[in-house]
Amino acid sequence: MSTLATVAVLVQKYLDDILAEHADITDGAVADYIPELASVDPSSFGLSLELSDGYVYESGDSATEFTIQSISKPFTYALAIDQVGTDAVDAKIGVEPSGEPFNEISVDDQTKTPKNAMINAGAIAAVSLIPGADAQQRFERLLDFYSACAGRRLDVDEDVYNSEKATGSRNRAIAYMLQSFGVLDGDPDEVLDVYFRQCAIKVTSSDLACMASTLARGGVNPGSGIRITSDAVVQRTLSVMMTCGMYDATGMWATTVGMPAKSGVGGGIIAVLPSQLGIGVYAPPLDKNGNSVRGLRACQSLSAQLGLHVMSVTRESRSTIRATHDIAAGVRVYELHGDLLFAGAERALRIVEHDSDEVDVAILELSRVDDINDVARRMLAGMRQSLNRRGKEGYLVDPDRRVMPAGSATASAVIFPTVAQALDAAGAR
Ligand code: DON
Repeated sequence: MSTLATVAVLVQKYLDDILAEHADITDGAVADYIPELASVDPSSFGLSLELSDGYVYESGDSATEFTIQSISKPFTYALAIDQVGTDAVDAKIGVEPSGEPFNEISVDDQTKTPKNAMINAGAIAAVSLIPGADAQQRFERLLDFYSACAGRRLDVDEDVYNSEKATGSRNRAIAYMLQSFGVLDGDPDEVLDVYFRQCAIKVTSSDLACMASTLARGGVNPGSGIRITSDAVVQRTLSVMMTCGMYDATGMWATTVGMPAKSGVGGGIIAVLPSQLGIGVYAPPLDKNGNSVRGLRACQSLSAQLGLHVMSVTRESRSTIRATHDIAAGVRVYELHGDLLFAGAERALRIVEHDSDEVDVAILELSRVDDINDVARRMLAGMRQSLNRRGKEGYLVDPDRRVMPAGSATASAVIFPTVAQALDAAGAR
């Protein structure tokens, strides 16, 4: 059996076992305040996980369609920021947890705007910010965005849409309240029509895993490789999901699962582990907070068993320097490896600086660095200047300029393709 097949079998077993472990739980009740929602099979249970390279694991009823409901909210929020910018969105929607039920008819006392985009008031305000000449155009833009994140064309459950529309008095109250506070431009009924439709979009747990994984990849759909939105939009969206995504159970979720997430009354949940993976779960019966009972438990098990909590402290970044070699009198080579971010670069440069009492030329060899961010790149580029101030020299070795591409950020660095060439330069110094 190949290594990949072995890994796949192992991960599949994790998912299957987690599903089996929670399958018999019958706690909770299917949402029925929208009559059509009550017609689903309460025993359905689907679990999907998509890695950031697009590899998908599925277990149980992962192909069963259900309505996305409030899991739509982070995606509409992301699209609003993408289309009109953060400032315009912030002027209408806050980023603070509300401590109120999802359909509370309320705004922030001070700003008179909805407290966040994960409750209905904020979600309805977000819909009103999506550009479009009419409800149809706005909805098409939303549906295109959701579909691009899911990697397939999604559509609406017309029965749920009609049922929601027929029973949506509370949301009407919210929309008209927002209009009275100047938060909602345009016709509240038109905005509500788009909101009702977006809640009635049909997805599977695997669609949700793909949408979550698109957020995990900073806005790139891992299956198609297409960029749907920017890193900055995703960073903001995940931040609000982390603090407001699971309603009044957000604190419990943050401690026991520890991933930005969003639930919906249809019984779905998405969870995102940034840079790594997205999870989609479906199990219709809900707890008193409106979150899927089995979905929540499955996510708790997944997080504990696979070590997915974003706050888990794994290991120190001290492994950034893999090895050092003194290759000539006063010349030391530092081999860096792994992902170089702020803390790793800071630590490596502090060691180089400390060594400069006894080392005249420091050569940082970067060919084993997997990835680097801008701040780490700028810090490496600045190493030479700080060593020069001490009368010392610092060179970088980056064979194909993959880590330190030519440009203004790296202009102050002296970069060689090989250690031998850097050593020659050190000798000529
Ligand atoms: O606004 C509503 O009533 C729903 N269509 C969406 C609510 C929802 O999913 C709340 N979440 N847990």
